[in-house]
Amino acid sequence: MSAVSMGDLGPGQRFARRAEVLGKSIYDHPPGVTVLSSGLAYPPCLPDVVHEAANAVSEHVASSLQYGPLMGLPDLREAITAFVREDGVKIGVDNVLVTYGAKNALDLACRVYLEPGDRMIVTTPSYMTALQIMRTHGVNFVGVGQDDEGLDVAELEEKLKRLQANGERMPKLLFDIPDFHNPTGITMSLARREALIELAKRYNFIILEDDPYRRIRFEGEPIPPLKALDDAGVVIALGTVSKILAPGLRLGWAIGEPEIIRRMAMQKADGGCNPMAQRIVVDLMRSNKMQNHIDELTAEMRLHRDAMIEAFAEHLPEAKIRTPNGGYFLWAELPEGVDAERVTELGVEHGVEVSTGRLCFAEDGPDNFLRMAYSFVSAEKIREGISQLGAAYRQYKAEA
Ligand SMILES: Cc1ncc(COP(=O)(O)O)c(C=O)c1O
Repeated sequence: MSAVSMGDLGPGQRFARRAEVLGKSIYDHPPGVTVLSSGLAYPPCLPDVVHEAANAVSEHVASSLQYGPLMGLPDLREAITAFVREDGVKIGVDNVLVTYGAKNALDLACRVYLEPGDRMIVTTPSYMTALQIMRTHGVNFVGVGQDDEGLDVAELEEKLKRLQANGERMPKLLFDIPDFHNPTGITMSLARREALIELAKRYNFIILEDDPYRRIRFEGEPIPPLKALDDAGVVIALGTVSKILAPGLRLGWAIGEPEIIRRMAMQKADGGCNPMAQRIVVDLMRSNKMQNHIDELTAEMRLHRDAMIEAFAEHLPEAKIRTPNGGYFLWAELPEGVDAERVTELGVEHGVEVSTGRLCFAEDGPDNFLRMAYSFVSAEKIREGISQLGAAYRQYKAEA
C-alpha cells in the first residue's frame, strides 16, 4: 500500500467505470519477499550503457533531447530491420514502428482494430498483462487450448466454423506468444505456425505475434517466427528490448504492412517514443554488445531455470511442470481442487511471491495453477523461494 491514504477522498467522485474499483496491481510487491511473480530483469545482468548514454547526450544531443519522430528514429528502425532479418523476417524500414515496448505495440494494434464487443482469439492461458490491455478495449475473448506443439489450431478451426455457421461476429485479432510462451513455456511447432497462418488468411483475422523471448533459448533449434512465414500480410510482429537488454529502456516495435503500422502510429497519444533511449539502443544493436549481452543473459537464465526445476522436484513434487527450453517463466499445475490463490497468499506469509494462474485466463479457468518467473532473483534465492512455496503448500494441505 502506498503512503497515500486510500480512504480520504470526499464523496461524490465521478470515476469512469474502468476506475471504480481500485484493486491490486501486479506491479506492486509486498516488501521483503522473494519476487518470483514477475518477469523482471536480473539486476546483475543489466547491460552497461554508460558509454551509449553519454554518446546520446553529447554527439546526438540535438535529436536525443528533442521530440522524437512519430515512427521512431530512422537509425533505430534500420537496426530493428537488420535484427529481425536475422530470423528470416524479410522486411524494410517502412515496415517498422518504434513503440514504448511490446505492450504499447499491442495496445496500439487493439486501438486500430477493435470496437467494443469485437472478438479476439487468445490461448488459454495467456500473458496476464496482455489480457488486461485487451480488456480495456471491451473485447469478447475466444479461448483456445494449447498442447506441446502450441496453440491448438484444430480447436480454433472448429470454433471459427461454429461462429460462422451461427452468423456471429468473427474474431478480428489473435494474440499469441509462439516462442517460450508466457506462462506455459511452450514453443509452437513449424507445422502449427504454417496452419495458423492459413487459418488467418481463410478467416480474415490478424495475428499479433508477441515474441520477446525468442533469443533467450537454452536448447534446441529456433523455428522461424510467424512473421517470416507470412506471405499475405496477416501477421503483426510485436518486439521489445525488455528481455534482451533492459525493460527500463521502455522500447519495442511493431512490424507489419506500412498501411497498418502507420495507422498504429497515428493512434499514439503522445507522439514519438523517447529518443534518448532509442539512441542508446541503436548503439547497442549496432555493436556486438547486444549479442554478447544476450549470450550472457541466456546462460544465466538457464541456470535459473534449472534451479527452479530442481527446487520443485525437491520441495513441491506434487506440482506438474513442463520444462521450458527458453524464456523467463514456469507454469505449474497443482493437484485438482487446490486453490492456488490461497497457496499464493500463504506463500507471501512464508516469504515468497508467485502468481496465481487464474490471472492468465481470459475467462473462467482452472484454479489450481501457479506461474513463476525465474528471471529476477539468483539461483540460490530461487531455491529458497520454492522451498518457502513448498512450506506454504503443506500448510494449505494441513488447513484444508
Ligand atoms: C509475453 C510478453 N510480452 C511482452 C512483455 C514485455 O512487454 P514490454 O516490451 O512492454 O516490456 C512481456 C513481459 O513480461 C511478456 O511476457
